[in-house]
Amino acid sequence: MKPVNVGICGLGTVGGGTLNVLIRNADEISRRAGRDILVSHIGMRNYKEGYDLSGVKVSADIFEVAKNPDVDVLVELIGGYEVALELVMTAIDHGKHVVTANKALIAEHGNEIFAAAHKKGVMIAFEAAVAGGIPIIKAIREGFSGNQINWLAGIINGTGNFILTEMRDKGRAFDDVLKEAQQLGYAEADPTFDVEGIDAAQKLCILSSIAFGIPLQFDRVYTQGISDITQKDVKYAEELGYRIKHLGIARRRNGGIELRVHPALIHKDQLLANVNGVMNAVMVHGDAVGPTLYYGAGAGSEPTASAVVADIVDVVRSLASSSDSRVPHLAFQPDKLSDVSILPIDETECGYYLRMEVLDQPGVMAKIAQILGEKDISIEAIIQKEPQIEGGEVSLILLTRKVLEKKMNSAIDAIESLDSTWGKVMKIRVEYLK
Ligand code: HSE
Repeated sequence: MKPVNVGICGLGTVGGGTLNVLIRNADEISRRAGRDILVSHIGMRNYKEGYDLSGVKVSADIFEVAKNPDVDVLVELIGGYEVALELVMTAIDHGKHVVTANKALIAEHGNEIFAAAHKKGVMIAFEAAVAGGIPIIKAIREGFSGNQINWLAGIINGTGNFILTEMRDKGRAFDDVLKEAQQLGYAEADPTFDVEGIDAAQKLCILSSIAFGIPLQFDRVYTQGISDITQKDVKYAEELGYRIKHLGIARRRNGGIELRVHPALIHKDQLLANVNGVMNAVMVHGDAVGPTLYYGAGAGSEPTASAVVADIVDVVRSLASSSDSRVPHLAFQPDKLSDVSILPIDETECGYYLRMEVLDQPGVMAKIAQILGEKDISIEAIIQKEPQIEGGEVSLILLTRKVLEKKMNSAIDAIESLDSTWGKVMKIRVEYLK
C-alpha cells in the first residue's frame, strides 16, 4: 500500500525526537499501522544540523507544509498560539489530519479547531499535549467508555514537581532548581507557565473535557502555582506526614464540576505523594473501575515523541474509516457535550493546612480554636514551634478536616484580624484522593 506522508512543523526538542523515533522504529511502526509512514516535508524557520534529511523537502515557511497536496498528516510542534492556530486551521482547510503536542492551542482554541475538523472530516490528535509520554488521553477517552468518571487528580507539570521534590529532598532554593529544569529542557519557554500553574491548567482543562464530556473551558480553571511555597511549609507538611504536590483536580460534585490547579498536601502513603522529580502521574476514578493510576515521563524529547507517533499511527489506521465512526475528539459525540457548570473555588470542599505566625502568649491558641469552632471547622492536628526569642512570635500549624472553602476563608479573615496574629495565614489545601 502507498506510504502515508507526514509533514512536521517545528524541529525542536519534540520535533527532533519524533523524527528520530519514526526513523529508528520505522519497521515496528509500519507493522502496527499497516502502512509505511514517511516524513516527506519539514517546516522549520532555522535549518537544524544533525539530522539526515535526504529525500525530505525542507521549507522555512511552515505554511508550505500545510498546503502541500502530498502531505496527508501535519504534525504541529511549533508551540504557541496565533501562528500555531493559523497553521492548524490552514491544514484542516486543505483536508489534512493534524497531530499536535500543543496544550495551549487545544485548551484555548480546541472548541473551534474541533468544529472545523468535524466539518472537514479530518482528525485532530493531541495525546502529547497532556502528560508527555503517558497515554492518558487514550486511557480516559477509550478505556473509560463504560464508566461515569467521578474525579481525576494529577501531577501534570514536571517542572513544578521537580522543584518541589528538590526543595523537600535537598533543601534547595526555588530559583536554583528552576534554572536546572530550564537547562534540562523541561520548562516552558516562559517558565512562569510552569511555576504559576498555567501549563497544568491547560492540561487539566483538556483532561476534564474528555472525562466529563464538557466543552473546553480554560478560563474557568482555578489556577494557583507553587511560587508561594516556602521551605518551612515543605518541612512542616513532612512533620505532619504529608507531602506538598502541585495537583490538577477535576471532580464531579452535586451541582457542578470542580476544576482547580494548586499546591496540595497529600498523605505520604498515597502513590501520588511518591511521584518525584520531573515524572507525571494521573489518577482517574471511574464508578465501575474504581481508582486507576498512570505514571511516566511528562516531558522530554522522545517520551513526548512517543505520544506524537502513537497519534500518527492512530490517524493512519483510521484513514480508511468514515469520519463519524472515529473516536470523537472530546470522547463524547460533539452534539452530546454537557453544559454542567464549573463550580467557583469558594464552593470547593477539602481539608486545609494553615500556618500562621502568632504571639507566644497565653490564650492565643484558645482564640484561634474558638474562631474555627464557631465556623464549625474541625481541627485534625496542631503543631506549635519554639519561638526564636522568648515572648516573640511562633509558627502555629493546623490541619483541619474537610470544609467549604468560603467558610475557611472567613475563618482566616477573622484569624488575621486578631492582634496576636502577624501577617497573612498560609493556606494550602489538603487532598485525600478518595
Ligand atoms: N513544561 C512542561 C512540564 C513540559 O514541565 O511538564 C511538558 O508539557
